[in-house]
Amino acid sequence: MIPIVKVSFPPKEVLMPVLEAVLYSGQVAEGQYVYDFEEKFAKHFNMPNVLGMSSGTAALHAALVLAGVGAGDEVISTPMTAEPTNTSILYCGAKVVWADVDPLSGNIDPESVRVNITSKTKAIVAVHYAGYPVRLAELRAIADEYGIALIEDCAHALGATYAGKGIGAIGDFGLFSFQAIKHMTTIDGGVLSIADEKHITAAKKFRWFGMLKGVPRTEVDIQSIGYKYNMSNVTGAIGLVQLDHINSILDKHKSNGHYYDQQFSSIAGIDFARCDPQAGPSYWLYTLLSDHSTDIEKALNEAGVAASKLHKPNNLHTIFSDSKKPLPGLDAFYKRLLHIPCGWWVSDEERERIVDIIKRG
Ligand SMILES: Cc1ncc(COP(=O)(O)O)c(C=O)c1O
Repeated sequence: MIPIVKVSFPPKEVLMPVLEAVLYSGQVAEGQYVYDFEEKFAKHFNMPNVLGMSSGTAALHAALVLAGVGAGDEVISTPMTAEPTNTSILYCGAKVVWADVDPLSGNIDPESVRVNITSKTKAIVAVHYAGYPVRLAELRAIADEYGIALIEDCAHALGATYAGKGIGAIGDFGLFSFQAIKHMTTIDGGVLSIADEKHITAAKKFRWFGMLKGVPRTEVDIQSIGYKYNMSNVTGAIGLVQLDHINSILDKHKSNGHYYDQQFSSIAGIDFARCDPQAGPSYWLYTLLSDHSTDIEKALNEAGVAASKLHKPNNLHTIFSDSKKPLPGLDAFYKRLLHIPCGWWVSDEERERIVDIIKRG
């Protein structure tokens, strides 16, 4: 079976010596490997301020708190995502307010965001779903007009671009996930990017019990709640090695994605996610759209190609029942959605075979 997602590690002979060095260094908790990883990640993806975190969820929780989200506030978000995008809003005691999604892309619809803003709205969470950037210029303008924070959930979108900039740099905060099946994994781990450096000290305290590293534990005075959300040296070391290999991984996702876009633009009944012309997707998953998605899924599965939807619309979970409302854009998108294999492991021959099966279907 050609899978939809696959774990990627650099060759053993490259990774293992680094892993062995950190494991027996005597310093496996947060330390220099983490700080080196932060610097290398920031440089590689052209981010101003980057902090290593234990997960993407931890980074998102931090972003929400730093954006001032607290009990009783509202956060406008998308139901078309993995659950941590929205459960982390509940960590803050805030209410999730759904914006509908654009049925052409599966991403949050800026017009729907605008009509859902109230005096309680503190932030917008925009997910670059499957690696396709949201309509960032419009969302940035809305956030600025109403004085609310824009948080980019880039968990699916490492390497994507918008208006020539790396994804995650246009929002007030951005988060990346290095969980097992993402473009780049550190087993678990994440990054928080911060546009305004005034938040860096608070973010560092938030990721480590409310304290700053380097201050003697007998002298520290905790003044705000912090969590055990920091990155370990072991994670940082894996990340440092992964960054040396990430370009070829991203290039292959993009090359396969562009190939499918080109092929499917001339097949009747088959469409694909369309995003803002300023956006450069990184195709973590390939989003095919068709009224016949169930039949195509069956034909691909029978031919040994994994194809399916990957997430349940979050509004369907009981925990979000207070946020219930009609979401016609989401319903239209979800019905037509089918993810097909597109990542670094899909060879040129395999992608041709996948297109052939779809053409024949
Ligand atoms: C869109 C999205 N946001 C946030 C997360 C949370 O990331 P993590 O698993 O690293 O906590 C994930 C993935 O798991 C995700 O897919």
